[in-house]
Amino acid sequence: MSNQREQFRSRLGFILAAAGSAVGIGNLVGFPVNAAKSGGAAFLLIYAAFVVFICLPVMMAEMSLGRHTQRNPLGAYKAVAGDKSPWRFGGWLALITPFMIAVFYQVLTVWLLGYFIGAVSGNLEAMADPGYFGEFINSYGVFIYLVILTVLVGIILNSGVQKGIERLAKVLMPSLFVMLLLLTIFVLTLPNAFVGVKYYLVPDFSKINLEVVNLALSQAFFSLSLGMGILITYGSYVSRRESISSGAKMVAAVDTSVAFFAGLLILPAIFVFNPETNTDELSSSSVSLVFSFLPKIFLSLQTLVGYVGASLFASAFFLLVFFAALTSQVSILQVPISAFQDELKYSRFKSVLALGASAALLVLASTVSFGMVSFFTEFVEYAGQTKSFFDVVIDIFYETILPLNGLIVCLFVIYRWRRNNLNQEMSVGDEDFDTSFTKSYVNLALGTFVPVILLFVFISTVLLKFFGVSII
Ligand code: TRP
Repeated sequence: MSNQREQFRSRLGFILAAAGSAVGIGNLVGFPVNAAKSGGAAFLLIYAAFVVFICLPVMMAEMSLGRHTQRNPLGAYKAVAGDKSPWRFGGWLALITPFMIAVFYQVLTVWLLGYFIGAVSGNLEAMADPGYFGEFINSYGVFIYLVILTVLVGIILNSGVQKGIERLAKVLMPSLFVMLLLLTIFVLTLPNAFVGVKYYLVPDFSKINLEVVNLALSQAFFSLSLGMGILITYGSYVSRRESISSGAKMVAAVDTSVAFFAGLLILPAIFVFNPETNTDELSSSSVSLVFSFLPKIFLSLQTLVGYVGASLFASAFFLLVFFAALTSQVSILQVPISAFQDELKYSRFKSVLALGASAALLVLASTVSFGMVSFFTEFVEYAGQTKSFFDVVIDIFYETILPLNGLIVCLFVIYRWRRNNLNQEMSVGDEDFDTSFTKSYVNLALGTFVPVILLFVFISTVLLKFFGVSII
């Protein structure tokens, strides 16, 4: 089996595919919103430190484990620890989590597609109306976009890692970089943009507290696609001629730069819209920012560039985020696909169908949980709040299990797979690794403070989300 496994065709292809997974809604929307709320550059600095000191070692561990075992996460845990070892639960978690995260990601991607089509077809004015978002997500139109997106993602995944994912990333990622750069330059030339730049780049350390630190870490984790077996899976398609350490560094650098530029695009845009903006009042959730607030900002550009210009700008923005979301979504879904292929020996086509069928019901349940069906809209109650099915998926899988999976990967790599094997795998395709600083650092970090920090994040999130108790 292993000698037939597909491989990324080139180093660039792998880096773009992994960057395609990493660069997503988290970078283009999540990061700017969090930076705006949490002290601009102060947040950026903490975030960047987490990327380098905590996330990079975890990323390298995941990629190495994948390339060594040539398997999906479940197969990887079993290959190292044995079929009956309790570690296999780590593998199951790293399989179920992406499946569930894909459900919520699919819902957001459908909305992005709808907003792109809306802006292109001249609907920007309506989209800027405060009631539009609520109506849009409960309209039957979303089902049409859902079908289009599902078929599109199915086709890409069915074409395989090299012909589907790698090729898509090679086209979409460079277009995304160019679009992001052009949009940012455009915004920076508008009057008042500078107030936003200053707000973004002059650090306000008074906003930093433990909660913000926690937020920066989860943001970094999500943004780099860690803790979900994605990089284990992608690692399994990397050639043994490549250096994992430099690949991982490139991916982290690209991901962080995109987040940085997204901040440079969105924050000034907000201040062009209203120089008096009080950032405390910025919506607390990134979802409402993209779908309710940004259309208003884009529409306000019409005084400068006309309605057509504003619509073009909005269309380009939504297309940009849609591209980023699409490459991330295929990466998330490749995890269960690989598992079907490796573990059940399904063909690629059968895996895609099996996955599509099982995900469809959950995606539908999420889609109708914004008011269409009250069973899903008022799904459960905990920590004093009524939660919809969609909220529950986010609370459990994104907020809670993601850092837990990161913790399990670290413990697994250090205590079960063992450092020697990790180091040996990292040296494959990388002669200098053995004597490098990266090696000493990764070994130190994974064996000491990274698991401790992740454990702390996990416990504090469980207490806060499900019991309403704040320890920070
Ligand atoms: N990193 C992507 C983003 O920033 C989302 C994503 C893709 C992801 N794959 C993932 C998040 C795996 C966690 C785990 O939007």
